[in-house]
Amino acid sequence: MICSGRSGQTLSERCGVEAILLVGGKGTRLRPLTISTPKPLLPTAGVPFLAHQLARASAAGVTRIVFATSYRSEMFEAAFGTEAYGLELVYVDERRPLGTGGAIRNAAQALVSKPDDPVLVLNGDILSGHSIPDQVQTHLESEAAVTLHLTEVDDPSRFGVVPTAPDGRVTAFLEKTNNPMTNRINAGSYVFRREVIDTIPFNEVVSVERETFPGLIASGETVMGFVDAHYWLDVGTPSAFVRGSCDLVTGLLESPALPGKPGPMLALEGANVSPRAVVTAGTVVGCDATIEAGSTVSGSVLFDEAVVAKGAWVRNSVLGRGARVASGAMLDGAILGDGAVVGPGNELGDGLRLWPGIELPPTAVRFSSDV
Ligand code: GDD
Ligand code: MG
Repeated sequence: MICSGRSGQTLSERCGVEAILLVGGKGTRLRPLTISTPKPLLPTAGVPFLAHQLARASAAGVTRIVFATSYRSEMFEAAFGTEAYGLELVYVDERRPLGTGGAIRNAAQALVSKPDDPVLVLNGDILSGHSIPDQVQTHLESEAAVTLHLTEVDDPSRFGVVPTAPDGRVTAFLEKTNNPMTNRINAGSYVFRREVIDTIPFNEVVSVERETFPGLIASGETVMGFVDAHYWLDVGTPSAFVRGSCDLVTGLLESPALPGKPGPMLALEGANVSPRAVVTAGTVVGCDATIEAGSTVSGSVLFDEAVVAKGAWVRNSVLGRGARVASGAMLDGAILGDGAVVGPGNELGDGLRLWPGIELPPTAVRFSSDV
């Protein structure tokens, strides 16, 4: 496999590449939404989250994807089958979670790439506008063992911190450190030389961030950074999940999988949105969901059959399947599990989560994480 050509070309114009998609995490920070559905399958801008990653990978020229599954593994093949967005899809399950490195090694059993070939590895909770072909190009030109996509964030302490030398080589990898020396972080998209994956111990729990990358750097292998400033988001927290969905709906990040045109609102089939409601900022209204007259809904995600009743006010929140916000209730940065009900008069503040099926009776009391 020989890749060459100008920046901006797709991989299929330069070469075909296969990828491993890491989707075995439990998504605990997104509970209760992830109790019934793994994080990569949560409805996001009208489709399962992964659809956006798959469509973008396909558009970049990736041809075959191996899913590394663990938590609720059976749901992935049920969602995407063996072919989607022009990609051949293969599923490799772990009997026990093997960590990110162990999962990559386990999934490598299903790769068809040769020892020298580049293999793309993607975290399954990332929205990114970076050019995958350019990342592969950097990898091949530098003859690296692995090339990491790096981006800059305001709070690097929640991520893998990755300092680089002036020539772009990675000099250290510090996973979730309290003293980050740079705001340049691991963006969760790697290009490995295939034979490097085969050096990860088989059937053992291994962290690629805490063991494989630091080990490669210590042994003098070339680990390259591909620094990029395009759109990037890890949707692993409730606020980031809501933001990611809204950014896809408004078109801030273009996605070939968006089921409609970008705009201030996306209403799915059977959604009933009153013309006397104000619905903005990239809100998605799920199938058969309802927004009644006089209500205001901004920057939110309504799963199928959710209801916002007359005069309710909802901002930056997620309403699980069939969840209901009664007249006059207010939600700001809240998460409602499937079938949860917020009775009239309740005010739910930032970070508040209601478990599936819980019903808050009518009240004058305010619920807020600040009080
Ligand atoms: N198959 C499998 N098995 N997948 C796993 C396992 C496992 O045991 N553990 C985690 N994953 C998957 C998750 O499903 C997710 O797609 C990906 O690996 C990363 O796990 P997260 O739990 O989302 O990690 P994080 O967000 O705290 O940190 C990672 O991503 C950051 C970028 O968003 C690290 O790679 C950081 O270094 C990085 O900065
Ligand atoms: Mg993550």
